[in-house]
Amino acid sequence: MSASNKLSSCLEDSVAFHTQDASAAGDVPRYTGTMQAMHWITATQLFCAYLAAWMIDSAANPAQGARLVMLHRSFGVTILLLATIRIVIRRRSRIPPLPPSLPTIQRLAARANALLLYGLLIVQPLLGLIASMLHGDRIVLFGSSALPSWLPPDKSLAHRIFQLHGWTALTLLALIGMHIAAALYHHFVRRDAVLAGMLPGVRPLTIPANIRP
Ligand code: HEM
Ligand code: HEM
Repeated sequence: MSASNKLSSCLEDSVAFHTQDASAAGDVPRYTGTMQAMHWITATQLFCAYLAAWMIDSAANPAQGARLVMLHRSFGVTILLLATIRIVIRRRSRIPPLPPSLPTIQRLAARANALLLYGLLIVQPLLGLIASMLHGDRIVLFGSSALPSWLPPDKSLAHRIFQLHGWTALTLLALIGMHIAAALYHHFVRRDAVLAGMLPGVRPLTIPANIRP
């Protein structure tokens, strides 16, 4: 298919999708407010968890380092709780369909990415939690309550799980990078309603008048 044919087919898809949205629901198909809130709270908590983890080594003194570890663990445990609740309520939630014109390979990639993201949102904090308990640390959440330790100390196993925790953190980061790139591709290149479905107040971009078929 030539480049101009590809562009016009992409525009046709986009126009068809906009028309279908407008007539079917009067608005773009969106995730529920609860799902959107949980998505963006999780994203913010992840940002804070990574930031705290990366700041630990450059802490000015041991007390500041301990505070950063405490904050890192607290954000991590919150992410675990939110991800668990989110997976449970997702089953009864309205999930906007992907654009019908999306190629199968991209559809599969989107599904695989979401599945892996959910998986790591559970596995990553669990690894941190298990390693911290095996290390014999007191896990205090947001400076208040301490979690009971369910595991007998084993420092050498804790060390190996912490190493894994570091690698899975990088894997999660790579998946998030691909996820964000895909969301921006949908919004700015395909100009469909995928990003709008997750972002309150955002609408799909309109097709500029000068390239309208
Ligand atoms: C999704 C949630 C989490 C993410 C993305 C995450 C990410 C990270 C990252 C990037 C590091 C630094 C690794 C390195 O320097 O090689 C780290 C270290 C660490 N994480 Fe997590 N983590 C999460 C949850 C948790 C939880 C729930 C706990 C414990 C309750 C925890 C405990 C730790 C500890 C103790 C360290 C080592 C800190 C140090 O350098 O002393 N993490 N984590
Ligand atoms: C930073 C950490 C992020 C994580 C862990 C994350 C995770 C997820 C997950 C698991 C889903 C699937 C929702 C479902 O169907 O149940 C999702 C959907 C979505 N996310 Fe994110 N997200 C993150 C950041 C972002 C950012 C920064 C953007 C925008 C630039 C974004 C845009 C979207 C969009 C548009 C959807 C709906 C379409 C889809 O399922 O891919 N996300 N996200």
